[in-house]
Amino acid sequence: MDWGIENRLSRLIKKDGRCQFLPIDHGYFQGPTSCLEKPSETIRELLPYADGLFVTRGVLRSSIPPNSQVPIILRVSGGTSIIGTDLANETITTSIEEIIRLNAAAVGISVFVGSDYEKQTLTNLTQLVDQCEDFGIPVMAVTAVGKELEKREARYLALSCRIAAELGARIVKTYYCPEDFEKVTGGCPVPIVIAGGPKCETEFEVFEFVYDGLQKGAIGINLGRNVWQNPHPVPMMRALNAIIHRNSTPREAQELFEELSSKQ
Ligand code: 5RP
Repeated sequence: MDWGIENRLSRLIKKDGRCQFLPIDHGYFQGPTSCLEKPSETIRELLPYADGLFVTRGVLRSSIPPNSQVPIILRVSGGTSIIGTDLANETITTSIEEIIRLNAAAVGISVFVGSDYEKQTLTNLTQLVDQCEDFGIPVMAVTAVGKELEKREARYLALSCRIAAELGARIVKTYYCPEDFEKVTGGCPVPIVIAGGPKCETEFEVFEFVYDGLQKGAIGINLGRNVWQNPHPVPMMRALNAIIHRNSTPREAQELFEELSSKQ
């Protein structure tokens, strides 16, 4: 692997081989998402626990202090909205010059396998990989499902992840599924991180699926709403950190969450 790629990946993936990314890119198609209306306020106390921040250039410039040492994963696809006709109709939104100017440690782009825009979004990925690899910048593919959350089953996720890796993604972000998740990670030759999806009913549910996903081969998480939409986002972030970097069980993470949130 080229030195530049390896160096950037090592800033994002810690020495234990694990990572906790914090995504706040939701506004690029959802607008002012609940609890993310003012991104700088949402993340202020969460940033110290993040191994990477997934963000668009607009929020990066307006809301993140440039002296922050948290590596940036720049969201570089978009062009659609939740009130438009099809969320999958994305394009690349950010030039390679801008990616370099913003000192991104990596970039993130969505692919919509099985959608009307499958070829377009996969071609977006290959073009981005060609541009970024020239400059040693790793690409994270986001295996998006649009509004069709029922697509979150192993056969579909394994297909999407493998295709994204074959086309050059260095990391793949996908959803966890309770059945056969090891087939998703086992069929993907590059590291997988788990996204959260809509907020779960209990913290324990989140701790359980993150823990299980790691046991089944994921290297970490890219979890947004289940962190910053929680009434106690910092305890949530820290409890997840304990699962990822200290191998805590869901029960131990729950105890830590309760201890930290009772002190707030
Ligand atoms: C949204 C994204 C998010 O980064 C991803 O979905 C993770 O966030 P959440 O845990 O809230 O689902 O790609 O476009």
